[in-house]
Amino acid sequence: MLYHSILRPILFRLPPEAAHEMALHFCEAGLRPRVLRSMMARRYASEPFKDLRRFGLSFNSPVGLAAGFDKNGVAVEGLSALGFGFIEVGTVTNLPQPGNPRPRLFRLPADKALINRMGFNNDGARRVAERLSINRPACVLGVNIGKSRAVAVEDATADYLASFESVYEVADYVAVNVSSPNTPGLRGLQNADALQALLQALQARNRELATRRATNPLPLLVKIAPDLDEHALEAIADVALGAGIEGIIATNTTTNRAGLKTSASIVEACGEGGLSGAPLRSRSTEVIASLYRRLRGRIPIIGVGGIFSADDAWEKICAGASLIQIYTGFIYEGAGLVRDINKGLQERLTQGGFRNLDEAVGSSVKAPVAA
Ligand SMILES: Cc1cc2nc3c(=O)[nH]c(=O)nc-3n(C[C@H](O)[C@H](O)[C@H](O)COP(=O)(O)O)c2cc1C
Repeated sequence: MLYHSILRPILFRLPPEAAHEMALHFCEAGLRPRVLRSMMARRYASEPFKDLRRFGLSFNSPVGLAAGFDKNGVAVEGLSALGFGFIEVGTVTNLPQPGNPRPRLFRLPADKALINRMGFNNDGARRVAERLSINRPACVLGVNIGKSRAVAVEDATADYLASFESVYEVADYVAVNVSSPNTPGLRGLQNADALQALLQALQARNRELATRRATNPLPLLVKIAPDLDEHALEAIADVALGAGIEGIIATNTTTNRAGLKTSASIVEACGEGGLSGAPLRSRSTEVIASLYRRLRGRIPIIGVGGIFSADDAWEKICAGASLIQIYTGFIYEGAGLVRDINKGLQERLTQGGFRNLDEAVGSSVKAPVAA
C-alpha cells in the first residue's frame, strides 16, 4: 500500500538507475541499525517453509532476490530483513568494471517491464568478497559470476576461475552466468562444448579448493537465457548433469521484443539490452517446464522471469521450479511482494493438500513425463 501510493510514485519520477541506487542505499544504510532491521524483519516475516533443502542448503523461504539488484553486495543484511530466503549478489567479474555508458536502464510501465544493458558494472570479485566476509545476510547467500569485458571469450575460463576462487569462501552457492545479453559473446558460452569445458574446469577447481580446506565442494549452478530452442535446452540440461552442476537458474532477460504494449518507437529508443518483467513470464515458464521434463527432478531449477504475484510464483513451481527469484516484480510491487508470495504459496500448499513444497514442484508437468 505505502509502496504503491507513496514510495513508487516518488521513485518512478527519478531516472530508473537513480531510483535503483536510492532504494539500494535505503536497504544498505537505512536498515543498518539492528533495531530497524528487526522491525522490518517482523513486518515482512512469514511462516518458515517446512523441509526446504536445496543443494545441501536449508532455506526458510523459496523466494530469492535475483542477481543484478545488489551487484556489489552492499545491502545484503538489510535486504534479508524483507523476507527473502536467499539473495544472489552479482554478477561480479574478476576485473572491476564500470559497465556500459548511461542511460542503460529503462522502464516500460505499460508492460510492467524493464530493459537494461548495465554491462556487469561491479567492484570486482575480490572487493565484493571482502565486503561479504563482513556483511552477512540472515538467509542463504549466492554469488553470481560472469566474464570480465576486457577478457576475450577464448580466455573466459581462467577469468571465471579467478572470480570463483575470490568468492569461494563467502558464497553458499555460486551461479555461473553465461546468459547476459550485455557482454559481447557471453551467450556463446551456452553452446554445449563451450559450456562443458567451462563447467568442468570450475568443478575441478571446486574439488581442489574443497580438498585443500577439508570442506564439501560449493554448489555450482548455471544461469541460462530464455532465447534458446528446445534442442539447446536439452543439451544444456545434459551438460549440467554430466558436470555435476547442482541447479539451473532459468531465466535471464530476453532480447525478444515481440508482443509489447509500449509503442515501437519508445521501445526502439531504449536501444539494445535485456527485457525483464511481465513480458518474459510465459517464456521463462516454458523453459522451466522443458528443463524439468529433461532433468526429471535430478537437480533443482530456480525459476525467474516475470513473477509479480503468488500465482505467478506458483505457476513456476508447478512447472518445475524448486525455488524462485524476483527482480522486476520487486521494483514494481515493492517489498510487500516477498511477503505476499510467501503467504500465498503457503496457502496454496495447504489448500492443495501438499505436505511440503517438494510435492508441488513440477506437478503441472508430471503427467506428460509419465505418459
Ligand atoms: C537492471 C537489471 C540488472 C540485471 N543484472 C543481472 C546480473 O548482473 N546478472 C544476472 O545474472 N542477471 C541480471 N539480471 C537478470 C535478473 O536476475 C533476472 O534473471 C531477470 O530480470 C528476469 O527476472 P524478472 O523478470 O523478475 O526481472 C538483471 C536484471 C535487471 C532488470
